[in-house]
Amino acid sequence: MLGFALHGPRRGDQLLRELRAAIGDGRLAPGTRLPSSRELAADLNVSRGLVVAAYEQLTAEGWLTTRRGAGTVVALAALPHPTHHRVPGGAPHPLPLRPGVPDLALFPRAAWRRAYHHALSTVPDADLDYPGPLGAPRLRQVLAAHLGRVRSARADPANLFVTTATAQALTLLARVLPGRLVGVEDPGSAGLAEHLVSNGLTPVPVPVDCDGITVPPPGLAAVLVTPAHQYPEGVVLSPARRAALAAWARAEGALIIEDDYDAEFRYDRDPIGCVQGVAPDVTALVGSVSKALAPAVRIGWLLAPPYLADNLVAARLAADRGGPALEQLAFAALLESGGYDRHLRRAARSYRTRRDALVAAVGEHLPGARVGGVAAGLHAVITLPSEVDDVALCARALALGLGSVPLSTLRHAPGPPGLVIGFAATSPGELTAAIRTLASLVK
Ligand SMILES: Cc1ncc(COP(=O)(O)O)c(C=O)c1O
Repeated sequence: MLGFALHGPRRGDQLLRELRAAIGDGRLAPGTRLPSSRELAADLNVSRGLVVAAYEQLTAEGWLTTRRGAGTVVALAALPHPTHHRVPGGAPHPLPLRPGVPDLALFPRAAWRRAYHHALSTVPDADLDYPGPLGAPRLRQVLAAHLGRVRSARADPANLFVTTATAQALTLLARVLPGRLVGVEDPGSAGLAEHLVSNGLTPVPVPVDCDGITVPPPGLAAVLVTPAHQYPEGVVLSPARRAALAAWARAEGALIIEDDYDAEFRYDRDPIGCVQGVAPDVTALVGSVSKALAPAVRIGWLLAPPYLADNLVAARLAADRGGPALEQLAFAALLESGGYDRHLRRAARSYRTRRDALVAAVGEHLPGARVGGVAAGLHAVITLPSEVDDVALCARALALGLGSVPLSTLRHAPGPPGLVIGFAATSPGELTAAIRTLASLVK
């Protein structure tokens, strides 16, 4: 039925391994409906309880989601996870409409080449040694100033780690948190939740409303939030909620992990300052250049409260002794030359035009739909009439080469169906055509 059989003892563990492998290598694609526990148990010749337990475990880990009326389906991962995104043969990669992807054609190649050349020709021989567990000192200094200016962060280079993007910042935090339970936004990024699980943490869904995440329950070691532009709903964490979250963290002795996701792109007003700026004692600010430049650069940062710094230093030494220094120095040169700011301004102009094209196309071709989250960032969320099956819709769209993500797979609590759509990497004309295609699939 699913292309594998179980033999010998410990069949529950085998089943978990087989299902994770099948999802991980794309044999079970996102959105695929799994057989009922009864059917699979009969097929594998095991008890139904064993299959139910496996489905429950993988649901808790974020591999599967359970949807009323639709049974158990393979969840979509929002973090780039090549094996989770099976691209139809010959289709462009990344797929049009896939959320979280910047326009890779805009990557400032000439400015990066100049910055790298500058770094390489000026670096003293002594700085070709290990960069130290926090990363290259020059970048930490320049980046601290940048985060203070652009994000209103309280950035002291002594607590600022240059990381291998958000992914490593979260891995390091997982090693130093005192507990295993971490609140995550519901709806939220399935990819981030999966990343936490693979680092030994247990995500606990915390509802998001129109003010952003609600106050988490007691007993958590941390909460992972996207205050600047919530993924996927696109709301900004309100001032009252920022204060309530900080008060919760202080009362609980918990950490706010602020994923400063999409913060660079704000279309209606100046970017909103980060939570870390007002609550540096309980907040770890995490960010990367994955949206601003390209995911391939793999440079990010972790601005941690001082009480975590020593343990993070140990974790970082164990991980990679500080990361690749030449790339870090090149990024420092790009920041110092003003090239980074210039690139962000250029990209924001292009993304704004694309966002406008998306909103216009939805208004014209999907009249029953509501577009949200478009004041910032690289994605929009389109809420659909309740009778639409967003998983089936995205599966049909994927077959036509479109990478939209069904909103219901990013949720634990019930809510209206919808689509999460990336607009940054798709031209206005292609966006209009893609929305027309989606509309034809809804009818
Ligand atoms: C919610 C969220 N935060 C952060 C990231 C960036 O991760 P990284 O910096 O490791 O590339 C992603 C990637 O898509 C994401 O979906």
